[in-house]
Amino acid sequence: MADPKKLFIKTYGCQMNVYDSERMVEAMGGAGYEATDTPDDADMILLNTCHIREKAAEKVYSELGRFKGLKTEKPDLKIGVAGCVAQAEGAEIMKRQPMVDLVVGPQAYHRLPEMEEKTRKGKKALDTDFPEEDKFEKLKSRPKAKRAPAAFLTVQEGCDKFCAFCVVPYTRGAEVSRPAERVIREAQDLVERGVREITLLGQNVNAYHGEGLNGGSMTLAQLIWELDKVDGLERIRFTTSHPNDMQDDLIEAHGTCKKLMPYLHLPVQSGSDKILKRMNRSHTAESYIRLIERIREARPDLLLSGDFIVGFPEETEEDFQATMDLVREVKYGQAYSFKYSTRPGTPAAERPLVDSAEADDRLQRLQALLRDQQTEIQDSMVGREVSVLLEREGREAGQMVGKSEYLHSVHLDAKGLKIGDVARAKIVKSMTNSLTGELI
Ligand code: 5AD
Ligand code: SF4
Repeated sequence: MADPKKLFIKTYGCQMNVYDSERMVEAMGGAGYEATDTPDDADMILLNTCHIREKAAEKVYSELGRFKGLKTEKPDLKIGVAGCVAQAEGAEIMKRQPMVDLVVGPQAYHRLPEMEEKTRKGKKALDTDFPEEDKFEKLKSRPKAKRAPAAFLTVQEGCDKFCAFCVVPYTRGAEVSRPAERVIREAQDLVERGVREITLLGQNVNAYHGEGLNGGSMTLAQLIWELDKVDGLERIRFTTSHPNDMQDDLIEAHGTCKKLMPYLHLPVQSGSDKILKRMNRSHTAESYIRLIERIREARPDLLLSGDFIVGFPEETEEDFQATMDLVREVKYGQAYSFKYSTRPGTPAAERPLVDSAEADDRLQRLQALLRDQQTEIQDSMVGREVSVLLEREGREAGQMVGKSEYLHSVHLDAKGLKIGDVARAKIVKSMTNSLTGELI
């Protein structure tokens, strides 16, 4: 057999892209490729791009520029662009960077092997369709290789919410959920390969409404209860959610499903009702806070994570203070905050910007508050007992590192235990970005 060709994938952006990149490696395995960590020895380079940050497309063009030398040295090298920038820019990419051989949108990854073949014949390959079939089903040529104990599993893609600042509804398209049976089969397969924790992924995952096991449609909570039955699966998480799709059965599951971890990423974006309205978020600060109260009633120790945007068009200092007030009231254990930046084609792109220095200043103040809350909550773990899914060896002999239920990194001496075990530990110390525990 010929030596395998080498595929280098550089992944940008969210966990959905990380998951997609793994699937692309598996699909290309069927076409005689194996993954490599360096572009230098690759026969094919793929950039799996993200469009959510500012000037995303420009950054991809300059990244592509860096591979020019390689391509000149090695004319057989194929270069491709995947992900949301590929979806948004399409054929434009090949026009601006003629050395690009292949452009593939997030819904067409199962067609990669055919596209690669086409490029081997010296042609360009472009596919940014939204086909009917389930790409993940088609992508299954996976060998039963051992996997790390924590894995992602995409159950839903796309979004119908059209928040005024966001490109996702345009790049990933309308909401589509995968049938429950396929998700469960994939989860079983992951568990057979050593996975103990699965994070269900979707741009708006709690809007999940996949085909149920006996026809009809299933909610995310129902899907979680089905996964709860999978022997060997110890932990379930999901991300990212929209407040308006937090249905009662999902809130309840946080209280009653033992495998569902007490961690929830529930972006609010702003604490000002005026701004929320202009963002087309269709919830208010008050309704969000009431929702959090209900979730915490179901699961009092839940650690909450959020996303925030400051400097959205026409945000005043008073609006910003409403965000600070909301943060103080909710208390986040983890958060991601961003300065608003324009995405061409979105409704907010037409509106007047807040002064840039002012927005920077707001971001700094918000991040300081969020950092304090994060530290306070992490410090409060000292003295508490947690369970730790061991994910890798630590720096010192016998030391291992894993994640607690609350997604804190925990270092501990775990002699006799192995990767994939769940250890009970008492937290003895809180450091900048992790905790130290002792085995119980
Ligand atoms: N400007 C700033 N932040 C944005 N996000 C999405 N679009 C923009 C934008 N145009 C943030 C939101 C979202 C997270 C993934 O990225 O907070 O929840
Ligand atoms: Fe974008 Fe999330 Fe809003 Fe959907 S819900 S439009 S993915 S920010």
